[in-house]
Amino acid sequence: MRDPVIGVVGAGYVGLTTTACLAHLGNRVICVDVDGSKVDGLRHGEVPIAEPGLAELVAEGLAARRLEFTTDASTLGDAEVVLLCLPTPMGEAGVADLSVLESALGELAGVLAPGCVVVMKSTVPVGTTARAGELLGRSDVPVVSNPEFLREGHAVHDFLHPDRIVVGTEDTGAAARVVGLYAALDAPVLRTDPASAELAKYASNAFLALKLSYVNALAELCERVGADVRAVGRVLGLDNRIGPAFLAPGPGWGGSCLPKDTSALLRTAEAAGVDFGLLRETVAVNVAQRERVVRKVRRAVTGSPRGSLAGVRLGLLGLTFKAGTDDLRHSPALAVAAELSRAGAVLTAYDPRAGGAGHPDLDGIALVDDPYLVAKDAAGIVLLTEWPEFRDLDWATLAALADHAAVVDTRNLLDPDTLCGTGWVHTGIGTPGDQ
Ligand code: UGA
Repeated sequence: MRDPVIGVVGAGYVGLTTTACLAHLGNRVICVDVDGSKVDGLRHGEVPIAEPGLAELVAEGLAARRLEFTTDASTLGDAEVVLLCLPTPMGEAGVADLSVLESALGELAGVLAPGCVVVMKSTVPVGTTARAGELLGRSDVPVVSNPEFLREGHAVHDFLHPDRIVVGTEDTGAAARVVGLYAALDAPVLRTDPASAELAKYASNAFLALKLSYVNALAELCERVGADVRAVGRVLGLDNRIGPAFLAPGPGWGGSCLPKDTSALLRTAEAAGVDFGLLRETVAVNVAQRERVVRKVRRAVTGSPRGSLAGVRLGLLGLTFKAGTDDLRHSPALAVAAELSRAGAVLTAYDPRAGGAGHPDLDGIALVDDPYLVAKDAAGIVLLTEWPEFRDLDWATLAALADHAAVVDTRNLLDPDTLCGTGWVHTGIGTPGDQ
């Protein structure tokens, strides 16, 4: 008898990570994706996304014959569990677009065996798990909400070492099946109703956004009163109730999840007649943060927060939404670049990972593959992503190349004292002397 099959639909970063990790835990996994060339590549161990450890786990699963990639959903006829890991992009007016999910459910309805459990891993609005059950139209196939909390760049680690596993269903048998998938992992399991599981995912990401907007607003206050946001953050972080993570100020928060999920939660609140002003303000502070960075740049290069940037050459270090990823989606670095561009600045940018070419938000930015070229004849440098290698650049050489050695360090990555010795005037975020 063959081992039971677990199906995964969608080979994006959540689907592939889930596939590879479940195979690593000893399961036989079939991953289905509509993209034929992606599937072909995966069969040969070609992993299209840069997630540390993922390619190794895919190779391990293929070698052990526990992994299969296909475009054919009918191969899931023997599956005991099918996990849906499909994109739910922000559609019209900030409402999540569920069309991909709907078409997958339509296809699976005629394929799945009685008693199979369908698992919603995609981040979906409250009520979607129940709706998916209706769309599937199979009373013998329960649908369970089991949201993922993987960070880009840490997805394999986060899958294998989760903070918690959330299983949202009223069906005890289905819940046991889903809990069983993670039996080898050491993490608390929370059983909830489907709506609470769905909402918890949005609430987690929106809370992270709230924490970041709080710290970014606090950074401005620190500058005004001569305090240091890093010291304040250390004090806050040692309170167990607050925790040390997500207290580093920056150019604003971004990525493919926090902005999408915060907006979607706001829409859910509006639709439910709840005035969630705190979330609106969280988003407003994030937009204001970009404008504040632009004012800092104006001050650093012209001496005035209202000085003109028309025709001013600026070098940008970092474009991705955070370090450790090649992802440019909703990157605060690009949002700041767009504002600078609108103000007339002439931009040259370097990022160690962003492929970039062809990305619409990069129009008008000259991309270079040597970080020193961003300084050439520049009136200043704006550091936008916290790539650690930027610390190790030869800042004396950068100063010699620049017209004016002013650096706006929106991640507080650089050591101002070291830089000072190389001729740079450093402006950070939320530390004394910054404006
Ligand atoms: C986020 C959540 O952290 C994951 O738990 C969640 O599973 C994931 O979304 C998702 O829903 O799929 P991710 O989008 O990879 O993960 O990004 P984060 O690491 O959360 O960073 C978000 C933004 O906050 C970035 O722009 C980052 O630079 C910024 N940030 C983070 C700061 O400005 N300061 C900090 O101290 C931390």
